[in-house]
Amino acid sequence: MDVCVIGAGYVGLTTSAVLASFGHHVHCVDNDELKISMLLEGKVPIYEPGLEELIIEYKEKGNLVFTSQLSDAVKSSSIIFIAVGTPLSEDGMADLSFYQAVADELSTLIDSYKTIVTKSTVPVGTNNKLQRKLLEKGVSAENFDVVSNPEFLREGTAIYDTLHPDKIVIGVNKPKPVATLQKLYQQIEAPLIITSLNGAEMIKYASNAFLAVKISFINELAKISDAYDVDIMDVALGLGTDPRIGPHFLQAGLGYGGSCLPKDLTSMEHQAQKQGITPHLLKAAKTINDSLIDLYVEKLKSKVTNLPTKRITVWGASFKPNTDDTRHSQALKLIDQLIEEGCEVHVFDPIVTVDKQVTNYKEMYESVKRSDVLIVATEWKQFTQADWALVKEKMKGETILDCRNCLSPRTIKHHGFTYLGVARP
Ligand code: UDX
Repeated sequence: MDVCVIGAGYVGLTTSAVLASFGHHVHCVDNDELKISMLLEGKVPIYEPGLEELIIEYKEKGNLVFTSQLSDAVKSSSIIFIAVGTPLSEDGMADLSFYQAVADELSTLIDSYKTIVTKSTVPVGTNNKLQRKLLEKGVSAENFDVVSNPEFLREGTAIYDTLHPDKIVIGVNKPKPVATLQKLYQQIEAPLIITSLNGAEMIKYASNAFLAVKISFINELAKISDAYDVDIMDVALGLGTDPRIGPHFLQAGLGYGGSCLPKDLTSMEHQAQKQGITPHLLKAAKTINDSLIDLYVEKLKSKVTNLPTKRITVWGASFKPNTDDTRHSQALKLIDQLIEEGCEVHVFDPIVTVDKQVTNYKEMYESVKRSDVLIVATEWKQFTQADWALVKEKMKGETILDCRNCLSPRTIKHHGFTYLGVARP
């Protein structure tokens, strides 16, 4: 099948590469000429394990082309994916300007039947609006159908998640495009959830909002557990073995960040308020997440005297391991707070260089030299498997704050450190 994917970000690139690997002919379009020229040279502008290899392979096989010319790509495709960004605007609403611009352009280009598939995360009602807009702009009703087909991929495992989703959500107003998408995705084994356009949009927000609530729930429990000297890891284990709850997303720590959870939770909150509904639970999840940076800085202050005079090393700057994405990173917020406290901050991240008043390091063990405190802010494998004897040798102080409960307290203490975790008595 000939497919046009508009937007060469995380979602657009992953979708393009995976569809090309299924044997489809994919035109990936972006109006950022620099990005397209990089991709034409086989360079992928984001760090996502396995993506570059897949892109190079299917570009060479001729299944995947990159272009900034939308009109040619649309004309030669029967399926058009919209995968442009929908960032948060200042007022907390989703900024749909990229999405609207694509809709405007499409309205001038469609002159034969196209299935238009929205992958971008858009507020409930947006796909219906797209349909109305195209009709108003004179696109014939026989020439298009609109489908809402949200993605649920995680950064760091985007390819795997796209190849092995736990469901494929298809929102439609009529049955015809369902068969098209079934054919497009025939290599994927996953249950289909067929719903309305609004239903599919809601499922996407509901999923991310639920994950955010689940994380804030365990973080609130961690605070209470800490006060009663209860190990939150035991609580998470006990909770997670109940199949009605499940073991995932019960990792207490610095909280959630990234390009999706914070944005989608805020957007969902606004969508509720627009309808006169106060989303108490969603608001609480955000309040808890926002309070965590202070919580850990205070924890540190209570254990380390004269914190502002200390040299502190932070391991991890991205919002989670295996990504270079620092959007809404809790680690970066922690770094900001430490700088504000007056601390001398040293940072090591396997990929990210922090553009703040800190000293960045290329070598992990160099970063802890003469430090009073080491904070582990994301759970990269090289942090959890560090040579603690070497860290001890290099550090001046002996405090380790494990903000992700990813280290073994026993190992850390064995090497002569004071271990501070998240509700780990
Ligand atoms: C998320 C959703 O998982 C994915 O389905 C959606 O399509 C996009 O948003 P992603 O943003 O890549 O994916 O990250 P995810 O792995 O979900 O983690 C989000 C944040 O939550 C990270 O900052 C992570 O550190 C934090 N987290 C996750 C916790 O604090 N505890 C947990 O138990 C799990």
